[in-house]
Amino acid sequence: MKKHYIFLLSVFALLIGSSCTHEVLSPINNTPPTPNDSIPDLPPIESDCDSDSIYYTNTIAPLLGSSCGSSTVYCHNSPSDENEQIDLSSWWSIMNGDEDELVIPGNPFNSKMIEKILEGEMPPDTSSFSITNDQIDLLTAWIAQGAQDNSCNEGCDTTNVSFQSDIFPIISLYCTSCHSGSDPNGGTLLDNYSNIRNAAVNGNLIDAINWQGTVVPMPFELDQLNECYINLIQIWVDNGALDN
Ligand code: HEC
Repeated sequence: MKKHYIFLLSVFALLIGSSCTHEVLSPINNTPPTPNDSIPDLPPIESDCDSDSIYYTNTIAPLLGSSCGSSTVYCHNSPSDENEQIDLSSWWSIMNGDEDELVIPGNPFNSKMIEKILEGEMPPDTSSFSITNDQIDLLTAWIAQGAQDNSCNEGCDTTNVSFQSDIFPIISLYCTSCHSGSDPNGGTLLDNYSNIRNAAVNGNLIDAINWQGTVVPMPFELDQLNECYINLIQIWVDNGALDN
């Protein structure tokens, strides 16, 4: 390996030596790195998501995971007597469980999943859990569109990161259901700008999503956020956690 390197260097030296002109090599960039240099700016990747479609993998799985509990302490992660054998941890288990008509493709309002939510029966403990009307609309639309096991590539645009269009949607889908109400999990509210900003400023938000430091890794007992979402949140915090 080393010999190879030395050989290449001597060929290079010969080549330079044999040319008559002395080229000036461009100077090495000595600018000190700014803090933001630690996060590589990922090039924007085009999204192939259809804005009228609701995708199981992108939206419904994280929604059901955080608000109906695909984690071990939160209810519907595997079939049991306590949860009436309803397992919401995968598309297959939703569509093939013991409960008849839990989800009827194309017919949300006769699907028991939507009925239970609209009747206020699920999720049960509203002091530390919530499902928003927007989320109910997403579930309803997904079932109306056929309750497919579908996914799309959202792309990743880390330029001009904004709280309203980038950060709030991620936190709402992955975190808010357990971090809202009068008795939020971990004593941490993540339901609006000022509460999310508090968690950003005290460092817990970044530690929790990066699975680092002394805080419990988040989202609780679910998969880690994807790299793009972690980058977006990191950039937003580094830029001052603004309400932009
Ligand atoms: C399924 C429920 C659930 C979801 C979803 C969830 N959390 Fe948590 N969170 C908890 C629980 C439970 C605790 C308390 C853990 C403990 O102290 O043992 C907690 C604690 C926290 C804390 C406080 C840590 C501390 O030590 O002060 C932060 C910050 C946090 N979560 C952020 C998040 C973020 C960010 C997300 C979304 C990416 C998220 N959580 C999603 C249940 C959840």
